[in-house]
Amino acid sequence: MQPDAPPLPEIDFATARAMLEWQIELGADEAMLDAPLNRYELPVPVPAKAVAAPAAAEEAPLPASAPVHAVDPVAVAETLAAGAQDLAELAAAMAAFEHCELKRGARNFVFADGNPHARVLILGEAPGREEDLEGRPFVGPAGQLLDRMLAAIGLSRTAPDPAAAVYITNVLPWRPPGNREPEPAEIAMFRPFIARHIELVDPEIVVLMGNPACMAALGQRGILRLRGHWAEAFGCPALPMAHPAHLLRNPAAKREAWADLLALRARLDG
Ligand code: URA
Repeated sequence: MQPDAPPLPEIDFATARAMLEWQIELGADEAMLDAPLNRYELPVPVPAKAVAAPAAAEEAPLPASAPVHAVDPVAVAETLAAGAQDLAELAAAMAAFEHCELKRGARNFVFADGNPHARVLILGEAPGREEDLEGRPFVGPAGQLLDRMLAAIGLSRTAPDPAAAVYITNVLPWRPPGNREPEPAEIAMFRPFIARHIELVDPEIVVLMGNPACMAALGQRGILRLRGHWAEAFGCPALPMAHPAHLLRNPAAKREAWADLLALRARLDG
């Protein structure tokens, strides 16, 4: 605490615990700093010129009545994504994208993991706590289950051989607070980046893990209905599957997940 901060009122254990639980319910499940910081008193950041708007829109003078932030994040994302010539450029463009508020609360940008030459690309949801800390997708409990599921059909994110490898990325590269589901506007603004990501990796098959991935790729949710049915997404055959986090909460759903893994293996072998 700062030396000149007023003394904290004394509170009993039960009240302190109730206040902490309330914070956690709101999604504030981690201490970021030792002392409170009033973010309303910070200067408003000026958006970086390179990502403020597509060049043509930037040059057009705005009418006097136009709101200052009349930038369409989806249009900006489309321009940035189209300009990325390889995965490194795409990662740099996404990391510089300033129109998603999640960036301000996240510790790390989480782009992808695995072999970019893999036959299979897995599209997850968003980083959780462990992924946010490490800057890599699927490294927490759901990721460990995912690794075991993939190993059961001879696939791995560390395999150098593209035939046995997977490439893993998420709908969002920033952790949503409290691990809430991505909002439709967030999915919409990252969709151009996902499309370009898949175009650059050019996999044979895309696996859509959970509802947000199905929303981004197919414009539909209802994973328990969609799972196991081959679809087409971003020009590739796509297999919706239950998310491993769902399987951790509902072990009975592992039987269907196993059937979906076998369908994936059969398609790769066929
Ligand atoms: N869940 C996801 O969908 N992605 C991650 O990276 C981690 C957990």
